[in-house]
Amino acid sequence: MGVASDASKPRALARGIPPSVRGGSNEGKDTARSRASFVDARGDARVHLSEMATPELRYGFGANWKDYAETSLNEARIANAVQSLRDLLALETLRGETFLDIGCGSGLFSLAACRLDAARVISFDFDADSVRTSLWLRERERIPEARWSIQQGSVLDAGFMASLPQVAVLYSWGVLHHTGRMWDAIDAAAAKVAPGGRFAISIYNRVERKPDSSAMWWKIKRLYNRSPGFARGLMETAYMANHAATRLITLRNPFSAHTDQAGAGRRGMDFRHDVKDWLGGFPYEYASAGELFEYVHRKHGFHLERLRTGDGNICNEFLFIRPTGT
Ligand SMILES: C[S@@+](CC[C@H](N)C(=O)[O-])C[C@H]1O[C@@H](n2cnc3c(N)ncnc32)[C@H](O)[C@@H]1O
Repeated sequence: MGVASDASKPRALARGIPPSVRGGSNEGKDTARSRASFVDARGDARVHLSEMATPELRYGFGANWKDYAETSLNEARIANAVQSLRDLLALETLRGETFLDIGCGSGLFSLAACRLDAARVISFDFDADSVRTSLWLRERERIPEARWSIQQGSVLDAGFMASLPQVAVLYSWGVLHHTGRMWDAIDAAAAKVAPGGRFAISIYNRVERKPDSSAMWWKIKRLYNRSPGFARGLMETAYMANHAATRLITLRNPFSAHTDQAGAGRRGMDFRHDVKDWLGGFPYEYASAGELFEYVHRKHGFHLERLRTGDGNICNEFLFIRPTGT
């Protein structure tokens, strides 16, 4: 399937996630309850969450993904996703390859892998709403299950991970730092990369300077998740007002992030949905690019092929290669 040629004209893809794959939001609820709601909605589903059933403070990414897919996902954003995948993987095509997407969110990047001709795409996410949204996207795009499989599972569940094959291309963008055990999650993911394979991950950068240090963001995110809905709304409004004011005093259009339907320069969600994820994404861990490189290189022996980094609260992007013969 090729990249849509009409990328200059954003077209709403979503007619609404149909009732068969609709589910309640698990935002801010504990994992035991989110697991239960998934089993209720899809009794035939495979559930591998034994390790993560302990109640804990956890942001429900999937509800945000579902809303994004219903309201904002269009062909231009899919084209951006395809291009960002090409850039990070340093590949023009995935023809003949198996692509494993850990923490697939809306399924957008798994879809991008299909458009890059991957022979097989394997996606999973911990969050039931993410799984439903990905299933819905696959159905919309008429991609057969045999080519794109989607499951609910956790990268921290050893039994579940053992059921997955080693792959030539493993992609996990913005996920492993939200598991609650980032270094264990990195180990579990790295083990699924075949010799000679690509390991493409992105991890939140460590920022020490105040006031917007990573430690401060940890507190903000925890506060957001502990807050009732109206307080979350206030925090989102405050964030957006601050963003607009900063752009205004630097003589830039304060509203461009809201009006840009094509998502120019953005790899995933639109600004409105991203703000919720930035404030809410919890559990939350981080590492400097150097710390991450040292860990993956020394512990797993992978070589760093590509790195995109900066000095703020961004997600550093890494492309590692597992040497052949290891
Ligand atoms: C910020 S989103 C990124 C989604 C997608 N990778 C992307 O780039 O658009 C993080 C995703 O990681 C998922 N996640 C969190 N913990 C996980 C776990 N233990 N196993 C699998 N997925 C997990 C969340 O449910 C969420 O969909």
